[in-house]
Amino acid sequence: MQSDRKAVRENWGSRLGFVLAAAGSAIGLGNVWRFPYVLGENGGFAFLLVYLCCVVLIGLPIMGAEMVIGRGSRRNPFGAFKALLPGSAWWLVGAIGIVTGVIILSYYNVVAGWTLAYLFRSLTGLVSGFTGPDSAELAYESFVSDSAQVVIYLFLFAVLGILVVAQGVKGGIERWAKILMPTLFLLLLLLIGRSLTLEGSGDGLAFLFAPDFSKINGDVILMAMGQAFYSLSLGMGVMITYGSYLDNRTNIFSSAGTVAGLDALIAVLAGVAIFPAVFAMGMEPSSGFGLTYQVLPMVFAKLPLSDVLSSLFFLLLTIAALTSAISLLEVMVSFATDELHWTRARATIIMAAFAFVVGVPSALSFGVWSDVTVFGLGFFGVADYITANVLLPLGGIGIAVFAGWAWGRGVKQEILLGSNQETLYYVWLWSVRILAPIAVALILIFNFV
Ligand code: TRP
Repeated sequence: MQSDRKAVRENWGSRLGFVLAAAGSAIGLGNVWRFPYVLGENGGFAFLLVYLCCVVLIGLPIMGAEMVIGRGSRRNPFGAFKALLPGSAWWLVGAIGIVTGVIILSYYNVVAGWTLAYLFRSLTGLVSGFTGPDSAELAYESFVSDSAQVVIYLFLFAVLGILVVAQGVKGGIERWAKILMPTLFLLLLLLIGRSLTLEGSGDGLAFLFAPDFSKINGDVILMAMGQAFYSLSLGMGVMITYGSYLDNRTNIFSSAGTVAGLDALIAVLAGVAIFPAVFAMGMEPSSGFGLTYQVLPMVFAKLPLSDVLSSLFFLLLTIAALTSAISLLEVMVSFATDELHWTRARATIIMAAFAFVVGVPSALSFGVWSDVTVFGLGFFGVADYITANVLLPLGGIGIAVFAGWAWGRGVKQEILLGSNQETLYYVWLWSVRILAPIAVALILIFNFV
């Protein structure tokens, strides 16, 4: 049995499949509801330039570090550090990563569940049923405080993740990434077509892109760094896990570059789909829950085929969330199959159930448990804050320092497998040694004050 299990560690079927799965992890709610607004509010094209620099100088090197740690060890994040530097305490970085993954999955599933609910409700006429300007707000508030509904949708979304991950890396994650990512792109193009053909859409484009270099200051640069880091799903071992299924012929530099490029492209395109329509319908730009569940439904309500548009949008968002949730679940599953020797089916069900249970308080924090708060934040807020602002940056620093300083000579040989770009290796090395750890440490420090 033991040797059997070793032999069944899968590989990706193709480089494309790997890149789409990794891009699926990176492209999530953040690309749709956060990036476009941050772009528009912080200098448009000027912010975009800063953001792209952060992606290239900080995000890409850490992503490369994760992938090479994964491929070099062929293990889950916990086992990877143990295999590469036995006897050291570096496994802690992987262990914290996995715990971080559980917490992110728990609350990510909650909003993903809402999104799924909005998809079903759009299909059955939610938006065309709006009667006045406050309809979307009322519908949102009564929905998120309805504990039973929210938990049911949380459950349904968790089941979707199980169905994909239980089918394995190639037959589940990769196969679905190859179906879902092109679908997401197509949906985005459809919505862009609608948005840009509305009268007055130019105002939205101006909001998004009009360059304002005077807005670029230290805070904005920090925000760009933080957004780049979060958007690329770094700091907890998703890319370690996905990298562990890579073969030695895959070029890590170009793969990471493609993933980051797709992530930035979709984030910008999401803005082009959203804000021209928001401005054309005379609504105020915003981000997060307000944009997604209140402003956009009202925008759709004012347009012909409102329920169709709304359904397309929430389908897009469900797909974006699902491919990210899958990657989080896979981190836990790879840990359980590698270290606890569980079968994939068992690992998937138990880990998803665990994340579901941990997610219930977050789900209830918008309703019956809204009074339970720490520093003014409910369960959901605390889980989000701690992971995004503390645990992920800590993990990112650990990963960069490990790859740059602790691992030693082996890393050069490993990362050059499939690429042989020595100059790039040195650029990468000095980023993970100095630039990336300092930058991520700044994010960590300044998010506290
Ligand atoms: N990148 C995701 C987004 O843009 C969010 C995210 C952060 C994430 N860390 C992650 C997703 C780890 C999956 C795994 O929405």
